[in-house]
Amino acid sequence: MKFFIDTANIEQIKEAQDLGILDGVTTNPSLMAKEGIKGDENIKNHYKNICEIVDGDVSAEVISVDYEGMIKEGESLAALHPQITIKIPMIKDGVKAIKYFSDKGLKTNCTLVFSAGQALLAAKAGATYVSPFIGRLDDISSNGIELIAQIVDIYNYYGFKTEVLAASIRHTQHIIQCAEAGADVITAPLNAILGLLKHPLTDAGLEKFLADYHKLNG
Ligand code: E4P
Repeated sequence: MKFFIDTANIEQIKEAQDLGILDGVTTNPSLMAKEGIKGDENIKNHYKNICEIVDGDVSAEVISVDYEGMIKEGESLAALHPQITIKIPMIKDGVKAIKYFSDKGLKTNCTLVFSAGQALLAAKAGATYVSPFIGRLDDISSNGIELIAQIVDIYNYYGFKTEVLAASIRHTQHIIQCAEAGADVITAPLNAILGLLKHPLTDAGLEKFLADYHKLNG
């Protein structure tokens, strides 16, 4: 199971990388805007900086919504660094663009996926990753984790190579549920990843071990 961090914040990316468990990064235009990154050149430089920090795939999202625009933008993003994965929305022209990039051997992440049917199309087009948004489904009282399990089942049944990248993760428990559902990858904010570390019995146990050591050793 791969762990991606879902942010464009350089400090958080470095912290996750330092932990030694990071396999990649996902970004989107909202996450870039949150960091105040604006202008095409600045955005491209930011992607390059992220690629220098991490070892794995870095998703960079196109903002075009037409086929020609996505191809032009995706090719320019992919040329920035070998770790760039072109992130493309699940729309008709997006499916065509994924097929184009897949045929060229370029990595793609099909984003804004909310149904098994959309995931099936992404796999047929040859997407490297498919990103079902579980938190946003939970927000509208749908079950995001059930969707992950459904897509994993379908992909396994037919042997699709597309990796299921569970996105829109809101908390630590989502990560555990995605692991149980068989997601290949999770992308999560740093606090959700760090939440995996925590258990009160770990803290209490460590405190007792150290107290016992210091009782005898000063
Ligand atoms: C990542 O690929 C997605 O863009 C991201 O996880 C969306 O998360 P959100 O629903 O919290 O905005």
